[in-house]
Amino acid sequence: MSTAETIKQQILDRYASRTTKSCVLDQQAKTSLPGGDTRWATYHLPYPVYMLRGKGCTLTDVDGNRYLDFQNNYTSLVHGHAHPAITAAIQEQAAKSVVYGAPAEGQFQLADLIASRLPGVDQLRYTNSGTEATMMAIRAARAFTGRQVILKMDGGYHGSHDMVEVNITPDLSGERMPIAKVEADGVPDSVLQSTAVARFNDLESVEEILKAKSGQIAAIIIEPVMNTAGMVAADESFLRGLRELANRYDVLLIFDEVVTMRLHENGYQGKVNVLPDLTALGKLIGGGLPIGAFGGRKDIMSLYDPARPNGFHHSGTFNGNPLTMAAGIASVNALTPQAIAHINALGGKLREGMEEAFAEAGIHGRTTGVGSLAYVHWTADEVTSAADVIRWKQKAAELPRLLHMELLNNGIFSANRGMFNLSTPMSENEIDSALEAFRAALFTLKPYTAEKAPHLMM
Ligand SMILES: Cc1ncc(COP(=O)(O)O)c(C=O)c1O
Repeated sequence: MSTAETIKQQILDRYASRTTKSCVLDQQAKTSLPGGDTRWATYHLPYPVYMLRGKGCTLTDVDGNRYLDFQNNYTSLVHGHAHPAITAAIQEQAAKSVVYGAPAEGQFQLADLIASRLPGVDQLRYTNSGTEATMMAIRAARAFTGRQVILKMDGGYHGSHDMVEVNITPDLSGERMPIAKVEADGVPDSVLQSTAVARFNDLESVEEILKAKSGQIAAIIIEPVMNTAGMVAADESFLRGLRELANRYDVLLIFDEVVTMRLHENGYQGKVNVLPDLTALGKLIGGGLPIGAFGGRKDIMSLYDPARPNGFHHSGTFNGNPLTMAAGIASVNALTPQAIAHINALGGKLREGMEEAFAEAGIHGRTTGVGSLAYVHWTADEVTSAADVIRWKQKAAELPRLLHMELLNNGIFSANRGMFNLSTPMSENEIDSALEAFRAALFTLKPYTAEKAPHLMM
């Protein structure tokens, strides 16, 4: 066995010896769940850790291992686990009933709170996931404009409905304009007639499509910081340029703030002062319970007024259920400007410390992200697009996977793709612990890197 293979085996052996009960549960799960899981993002080989409980920023797995949680259910747990105010709100509401089949005050109380924060949201409606939120925002844009085509960014992720299952994996053809393709078997090719793809941070590519499909485009949809694609932020000038193009070509602008709302008390739209026509939300606004919402200009959202003749049908058995509303109100209320500033500052410290650790280990590595969001990249080069991320991944052997596993061995729970995000119960102590674990993992992986990805050695 080469040195690299030995290191890999040692990491996997350490993981296996710490997680024997998770391994047994994974085997049991494989009977009734294909592959043993029900969520693509949380599964990884040889098997994921099964968790037992969480408190604040820590998690405990079924084998009794403790982790600092830097994954936070993919940013939805902005206050970590079992936050006292959120837990109390859920308990209080659960004792009254979890859902009524009728409206309750919590619906407009949470909507008021969100509208008071996001300048682009006059009114909103709830869904049960961010996926449904972008789906309904897109439908609203189509209905309002009477046009069919949606323009999304290469590498952009807006959930798993067909219309946006296009170029989540970015185009690597090298062509000036990205080649659009459906992401997965089962997504009909016909979506390519109604979804166009432009390059992120490239206004010319957006304008070229707006010109070519003049009169057909209903909306441009964008994550201001591409989350799944590698925490790549849009340039502010790009977002401002999109607003101008949307005005000039008379199309709507949709911000997908499912993840980025956490970055500023007025959302990313408030941070950069660019007003979208529609906004998709999710994750943190449910306080950890399932949620999505879409909102925007009153003239657009009024399409959904059920009293309107030919009113727009939008149903959902659990839309705006009082349990999620109670948790969401507590979550948004606790996300004060001070709390946001706190986690954003910690995020800066984390990203800086990780880059220092790469330099200490003599390995080329970078981080991207904004505020409380971070992503680790195994490359010497600047990362400004989703395609950049795929390109370095193709040359990085198993480094992202082994880093993730070794961080688990060292008590740090992060997203297996290399994403980290912070929660309000964290302090500098947790960042220091994470950085210590990160540094140790890099030194463990240094000989592996030298053998399998020598271009990364300084
Ligand atoms: C930017 C963005 N939009 C939409 C979604 C979909 O949200 P959900 O997983 O709640 O369907 C996600 C999920 O990660 C996301 O990151």
